[in-house]
Amino acid sequence: MDVYEAVESRRAVRAFSDEPVPMEILERVLSAAARAPSSGNLQPWHVYVVTGDPLAELKRRATARALAGDPGDEREYPMYPADLTSPYLDRFSAAAAQRYATLGIERDDPERPQKIATLNAGAFGAPVVLFCYLDRAMGPGQWGDAGMYLQTVMLLLRAEGLHSCPQVMWTMFRRTVTRTVGADDGLALFCGVAVGFEKEGVTHLRTGRADITETVSFIGV
Ligand SMILES: Cc1cc2nc3c(=O)[nH]c(=O)nc-3n(C[C@H](O)[C@H](O)[C@H](O)COP(=O)(O)O)c2cc1C
Repeated sequence: MDVYEAVESRRAVRAFSDEPVPMEILERVLSAAARAPSSGNLQPWHVYVVTGDPLAELKRRATARALAGDPGDEREYPMYPADLTSPYLDRFSAAAAQRYATLGIERDDPERPQKIATLNAGAFGAPVVLFCYLDRAMGPGQWGDAGMYLQTVMLLLRAEGLHSCPQVMWTMFRRTVTRTVGADDGLALFCGVAVGFEKEGVTHLRTGRADITETVSFIGV
């Protein structure tokens, strides 16, 4: 698969089949992804790959919390700025409406937050979740590095016929996650990435993007 095809076909998949993911594929992907760039070559990411019984138990615990309406653990970083304004707020609202309509959750459903948390807590049925942590001493530059690393992982997963869904929602249940993976207190959870084969026959969402004239300026051309 060429790089354009990997980029084009990557999307946040929210319906995975229970087909297991061979660990040798994940080892190959994660070994190759280590080539991702990072400022000063710090390679600040700490990744935990969770599957099998520990993942089943983690999903059970997180789902129970979501169903109970648990507001989640104290956040270590805001998911979004508190004062999100246009054009970001418009993009956010459009994507959220589209995403949850595809999942059959209506905008005015009073149980919407709980339903969203519950779907995320089950990792959309994925048989593997990668959890990416960063040392708390790291700053915005290293959080950017972790983003580049995770995109490299997600593109390589496409090359292997696998799909993914990055999930910041796991930070709601970060204490439950940390209990499962045994991460050191000095590490902060950035996000989870659900990994697996896509479930067949499910309508999938093709999200839009702003025109590049809105996000890119060519200078000197
Ligand atoms: C860091 C990060 C965190 C995300 N967290 C979630 C999440 O918790 N739950 C979810 O369903 N999607 C999550 N997404 C997926 C985005 O909603 C998705 O990437 C965006 O809407 C664009 O759609 P696409 O990836 O299908 O192209 C996350 C994406 C990123 C990059």
